[in-house]
Amino acid sequence: MKIIGTGRAHPAKVVTNAMLEEFLDTSDEWIKERTGMSVRKVISDEKLEDLAIEASIKAIEDAGLKATDIDYIICSNVVNEYVTPSLSCIIQGGVGAKCACVDVNAACSGFIYALDMADDRLKSGKARNILVVAAEEPTRMVDWSDRSTCVLFGDGAGAVVVTQGEGMICSRLTTQSKTSCLYYKRMLEPTPYITKEETAGPMYMNGREVFKTAVLSSAKDITKLLKQAGLQPSDLKYYILHQANMRIIEAVANYLKLDMSYFPTNVERCGNTSSASVALLLDELHRDGKLQRGDKILMSAFGAGFTTAACIIEWTK
Ligand code: UT7
Repeated sequence: MKIIGTGRAHPAKVVTNAMLEEFLDTSDEWIKERTGMSVRKVISDEKLEDLAIEASIKAIEDAGLKATDIDYIICSNVVNEYVTPSLSCIIQGGVGAKCACVDVNAACSGFIYALDMADDRLKSGKARNILVVAAEEPTRMVDWSDRSTCVLFGDGAGAVVVTQGEGMICSRLTTQSKTSCLYYKRMLEPTPYITKEETAGPMYMNGREVFKTAVLSSAKDITKLLKQAGLQPSDLKYYILHQANMRIIEAVANYLKLDMSYFPTNVERCGNTSSASVALLLDELHRDGKLQRGDKILMSAFGAGFTTAACIIEWTK
């Protein structure tokens, strides 16, 4: 596959650390020092589906295609208002495409999982142009009285259009069933037959455990991919890492002995936008003219599961 178009959409509401201080026992100093975040963009009166559609339309326009040229839509999403139909079905109607649609949930790694699926579908010849969207509203999963989680997240949608080409150099996906350190459970409807005890509640996260696992797994994925591609760390133009915490990104940079100029970030402005973070950042780099044809870019993410996904692509647009 190769990427031929990108797009993104952010919610309008900007929530500063000072705004969080108004109702939480927290401080701008703590949040900046421990996470690198200053503001996050949070869904208020928008619907996630509208952000996903806006990002998708921009990506299709950037690719120079019509919506009817898209023959498959894959959307990475953890939650939205609908359990069914899938968000990709809603996006199809919103952009005016006429193709098969599917959602994937690989938590924050989902955008790279979806790209890898798109690559396979293009290789098999079953599709020509695929819209890959990552649309997330993690601010609807957290308890807004829990300072250890609610300050961390933001919402948004990023999209790319991929077509047949030689842009995917290599990829690596992993999952280890480790469900107790990060989860969100919701209550299903009762039935006359349910006798088991069921629980639901806002997102639970063991931050320290996730932090350690994230640094180790990202470092491992990146090392393996560089070796597979026969590249040195400095051969890449950018490392677009999942934007969960500036300290995780700095730890990976330190491990690779690279300075932070290789690691563009949006975590300070957008918070952790789950699987949308890598897609949002890719679009920002492209639209700011920071990507040149032939640049090699590594994308890497981790999330609940525990899942990880990473790939090296060549920028071919
Ligand atoms: O994409 C999903 C994946 N999630 C992540 O990648 C998150 C990974 N983890 C992290 O980013 C960090 O672990 C956090 C940012 C969540 C927490 O940072 P930390 O340096 O690991 O802090 P901690 O959890 O060890 O907490 C240190 C202290 C605690 O107080 P005590 O027990 O030392 O008195 C917390 O209660 O900081 C306290 N604390 C806060 N204080 C002010 C936790 N949240 C806050 C807060 N404001 N918002």
